[in-house]
Amino acid sequence: MVINSFQFAKTPRLIFGAKKINDCVNIIKSYGDTVLIVTGARSFRVSPQWVNLQKSLSEYSIKFYEVIIDSEPSPVMIDKAVRDFKDKDLKSVISIGGGSVIDAGKAISAMLTQDTSIVDFLEGIGAKTHNGVKLPFIAVPTTSGTGSEATKNAVISNVFANGFKASLRHDNLVPDVAILDPELTLGLPPEISAACGMDAFTQLLESYVSIKASPMTDALALSGIMALKDSLIQSCTTDSKNIEIRANMAYASYLSGVTLANAGLGVVHGIASAIGGFFNIPHGVVCGTLMSKAVEMTILKLRSENAEGLGKYAAVGRILSGINDLDQSSSCDFLIDKIHEWTNLLKISKLSAYGVRAEDFDKIIKKSGNKENPVKLDNEEIRSILGSRLG
Ligand SMILES: [Fe+2]
Repeated sequence: MVINSFQFAKTPRLIFGAKKINDCVNIIKSYGDTVLIVTGARSFRVSPQWVNLQKSLSEYSIKFYEVIIDSEPSPVMIDKAVRDFKDKDLKSVISIGGGSVIDAGKAISAMLTQDTSIVDFLEGIGAKTHNGVKLPFIAVPTTSGTGSEATKNAVISNVFANGFKASLRHDNLVPDVAILDPELTLGLPPEISAACGMDAFTQLLESYVSIKASPMTDALALSGIMALKDSLIQSCTTDSKNIEIRANMAYASYLSGVTLANAGLGVVHGIASAIGGFFNIPHGVVCGTLMSKAVEMTILKLRSENAEGLGKYAAVGRILSGINDLDQSSSCDFLIDKIHEWTNLLKISKLSAYGVRAEDFDKIIKKSGNKENPVKLDNEEIRSILGSRLG
């Protein structure tokens, strides 16, 4: 085995298991007696866990303020929250929600220590570099998808004609604590479980085959794929209330965040961020819809160029098929077929459902990239991926 040089970023203190959300009050208290709670607009706020949390906070004499994030966070939303709470002597920030809520809380915890707009610090948009000084931040995901609870960046969106999705990023922005309580995901509707699950799968696969992968990210990505393989479909169907299935998905999602933070992603995310800048389309849906064709095109090109990388796709094909001695070519074919099958079973929406038209392809392609894909797809290949999932 040859191990090339690599780095591995810090990960949050991880607390995993059913009912572990109950630990968060002690953790909040350890930082001080005033906290900002960031949630989504719906599911968690009508759950018994929200009632219990408020009761516990009051028992511990913790003063709390609230921010509701009801869409992907924009610079305006983050700047407003910072203005509203900057003088409240907050000691920590906790996000309880999906990827958007966690990204928002991460960004707010980082911007409460700064004096200008978040726009100034966004990669590729602003001119400043964040210094990494932030308030303690606790991430409690209620979906199993983006892996944001493990990453050092917050994705901020500005959706309009010349829109962008850009990251606030610093090594210190990795959440201090991540609490993965699969009970919080039991009530997720199938379409959200499906989109989030496909995002987690895409992130695990793209970081596993990434040109920046290391033996550590490989081990974690494969562990995540093994947890996900028999749980992704079930989490969206009859077993959606099964805590073991939901725990597998929460674990896979978390690992996808760790591996993407350390190995990067591929062409699916390179196209998804471009589409996400122009259209109001959930990140999981856009990744899920593009994944099958993007994997097929990447494997096709690796084959035509006789390039390295097929071995890793084949390894994933063997895991998903359960056939350990399947040859490389058959394993890759199995993987392609399986992702197409999952996309259909999960009824992942096509792009036109969110207003994307063929006339938009040029501007999408212009802003797309391959990231760390094992082979570079050209503009026409990206056009073919988009065309296959238009409508
Ligand atoms: Fe993603």
